[in-house]
Amino acid sequence: MTGTKFGCGKGLCGACTIHLNGIETRSCQTPIDFLEEGDEITTIEGLSKNGKMHQMQESFKKHHGLQCGFCTPGMVMSAIDLLNHKKNPSDKEIRD
Ligand code: FES
Repeated sequence: MTGTKFGCGKGLCGACTIHLNGIETRSCQTPIDFLEEGDEITTIEGLSKNGKMHQMQESFKKHHGLQCGFCTPGMVMSAIDLLNHKKNPSDKEIRD
């Protein structure tokens, strides 16, 4: 799998973002011994179902939400987490 990237290694850039038990998590800041049996890890590769991209991936594609693409998987994972916790975020909350 190539979606999750190692960027800064300091928890700042978000390129390594995954979902751990459904919560946005910086994988570079998550030691393997922090995990427990049965924990659920979802990477960008795990979002598509039956060959169809997740709605957030489709939205990024439709609205050209890409630059070089290196951090895009992390941004998609973060955006999903944001909407899972706040249905109508403000522009500031989205930027943050
Ligand atoms: Fe930058 Fe993890 S690699 S936040």
